[in-house]
Amino acid sequence: MSNYLKSLNKLPKNDLIDKVLLEAKELKTPIISDEGIMFLIQVIKIAKVKKVLEIGSAIGYSAIMMALNTNAEITTIEKDELSYDRAIKNVSNGNLSSRIKLIKADALEVELEEMFDLIFIDAAKGQYLKFLERFKPNLNDGGIVICDNLLFHGLVSDKEQIESKRLKGLVNKIDDFNHKLIEHPDFDSFIYEIGDGLSMSIKKG
Ligand SMILES: C[S@@+](CC[C@H](N)C(=O)[O-])C[C@H]1O[C@@H](n2cnc3c(N)ncnc32)[C@H](O)[C@@H]1O
Repeated sequence: MSNYLKSLNKLPKNDLIDKVLLEAKELKTPIISDEGIMFLIQVIKIAKVKKVLEIGSAIGYSAIMMALNTNAEITTIEKDELSYDRAIKNVSNGNLSSRIKLIKADALEVELEEMFDLIFIDAAKGQYLKFLERFKPNLNDGGIVICDNLLFHGLVSDKEQIESKRLKGLVNKIDDFNHKLIEHPDFDSFIYEIGDGLSMSIKKG
């Protein structure tokens, strides 16, 4: 986001958010961009989303921001034990345990019966198609899927500059997902240059 927009667009902040942001910085935990969370919050409000499923809680920043800025209930899945423990602590420090349900599990293994209005995918970047297919049955018709990091620091649209074989493999996977998402017969999707590249898909019903 430009400095001009940074000075205009103010995300609500409190002591808890400041602490979680500092913790993310110290631990080098990747979290959603300001632009991304601003977009997500507005979509939740416009679509009157009641239930959100998040794949990839990390230390709870995006879940806490969604809970503090909307009326939605959030279920969020995290497989890393240390991140999960920190998320639990942060959510409880904000007295948000009744609004945010944290599940410690690999999202590729967990079985959920519940239905959701919006799914936010922000976990292992090479697994997005698997997450989408796995949780599609848990999304109501007309429900929304938002995925983060689809431009991956600008590398997806400029692969030639990548030297590392491993990174190239990951970026190719994201590129492949982007095409499959846009062509997916069950969703109407667009990808936007918001934050690190966000998609918004609407499930056809
Ligand atoms: C980018 S971080 C999430 C950031 C968080 N959404 C935020 O903006 O505050 C991605 C997280 O996904 C978790 N993750 C990766 N693969 C996962 C999986 N298969 N199941 C659950 N969590 C996973 C990682 O451990 C990591 O903490």
